[in-house]
Amino acid sequence: MSGTMDDHAVRSALTGSMRDYVHPDGRQLQTRADAFFEWQHLRRRQGLWPYSRASEEGPSTFMAARDDAGRSVRGVNFASQDYLSLCVHPDVKRVAMDVIAEFGMHSAGSSVLLGNTPQSVALERRVADFLDMPEALLFPTGWAAGYGVIKGLVRPTDHVVMDVLSHSCLQEGAQAATHNVHRFHHNDLAECRALLEEIRAHDAHHGIMVVTESLFSMNSDSPDIVALQALCHELDATLVVDVAHDLGNLGADGKGVIGDQGMLGRVDLVMGSFSKTFCSNGGFVACHTRALKEYLRFYSPPCIFSNALSPSQAATVLKAFEIIESAEGRRLREQLLGNILELRRQLEEAGFEVYGEPSAIVCVKIGSEALARLVSRHVQDAGLLANLVEYPAVAKGQARFRLQVMANHTHGNIRDAVAALKAANASGRSDFGRLGAAWLQPPEPTARWH
Ligand SMILES: Cc1ncc(COP(=O)(O)O)c(C=O)c1O
Repeated sequence: MSGTMDDHAVRSALTGSMRDYVHPDGRQLQTRADAFFEWQHLRRRQGLWPYSRASEEGPSTFMAARDDAGRSVRGVNFASQDYLSLCVHPDVKRVAMDVIAEFGMHSAGSSVLLGNTPQSVALERRVADFLDMPEALLFPTGWAAGYGVIKGLVRPTDHVVMDVLSHSCLQEGAQAATHNVHRFHHNDLAECRALLEEIRAHDAHHGIMVVTESLFSMNSDSPDIVALQALCHELDATLVVDVAHDLGNLGADGKGVIGDQGMLGRVDLVMGSFSKTFCSNGGFVACHTRALKEYLRFYSPPCIFSNALSPSQAATVLKAFEIIESAEGRRLREQLLGNILELRRQLEEAGFEVYGEPSAIVCVKIGSEALARLVSRHVQDAGLLANLVEYPAVAKGQARFRLQVMANHTHGNIRDAVAALKAANASGRSDFGRLGAAWLQPPEPTARWH
């Protein structure tokens, strides 16, 4: 292989993955992190590290940001999670400021002590009512809710059976709770059944939690929740469904996939995040009894031992619910869906392969990390803010760009985004060819959790 010094450096920055640094060697915990930094910095110097960017303004459809080398970037923004554009809604901003003026910034306590506020108590009720569930419990983040619902209920002799693509908070919660973690292939109901039957054949006494998502955050697809819940009833298992990405924004009334599948109020445990549609940090678990809610409050470590949502966060989410349940919410969802369909149509017309079903998550397939990194270098120069996704968010060899759609995007924004991605893809592929980088293509995708 021939080329300039720069080409050699770029080629090196196209190799490797965060997976290589998961288990660093050596007894010095602090210095053994250096190898990761060297690799990261190699990528950063070559403009191939598109992570840890800082926005220079509130999340909007066209915005300025800085990459973590301090370079300023500017473009149409498909990298923020604000599906109904409520972050910039004047009523939301006003209520947050009013509550800060009255209550200050901080809950100043966990929800088992004095951290509850009128806003958080009202929000628990609102979440439960929206989901047609008797009870709901708040958590400081969606991640804490996912981790907490599993760690709070599952004990070392119990079992967790989960979709292999479940979010990190669910995977980490399962691993912290028990060694008996069984994963089934993505959305493979037959394999899930086989695992449950196998467990029940040998263990009639312990609990089984089945874990999935209503809309998978990197694939934009959904399981058959009706069938999964029936299977759980049949084999005495408890179903948890993470609704982080669809609640509030999908379906005519915003009830998401569980609403569309006629499962409102009929799933054992529903957990979610406010950070995608409800314009605030925070998460929740909805359940069927006060007894279970109280148990979770006191036995989920991120609930009992972490400060509760601040009053302004809870008030923000309450206001978001009010909008979501109004005619304006319906209109915003229609706008969002129109944007999603238009973006998918234009991407497919431009020759891209798009994952899954229409939702606010629009992932464009690339595959090779090396190619995706080269394309990412051109994406931001072409005036598009979109996230490059590679391991550990997806399996190795399955790199993709994730575009997250907002209600306020215009068709002009969509046209610009597709044009930018098309130009960046062509330039990235040409770099890939010039560098002779095809040998970097991993032979087979490597799963995330194995
Ligand atoms: C499916 C899923 N669950 C949970 C979370 C965690 O939510 P939060 O950002 O509120 O911590 C996320 C966010 O990345 C997610 O995608």
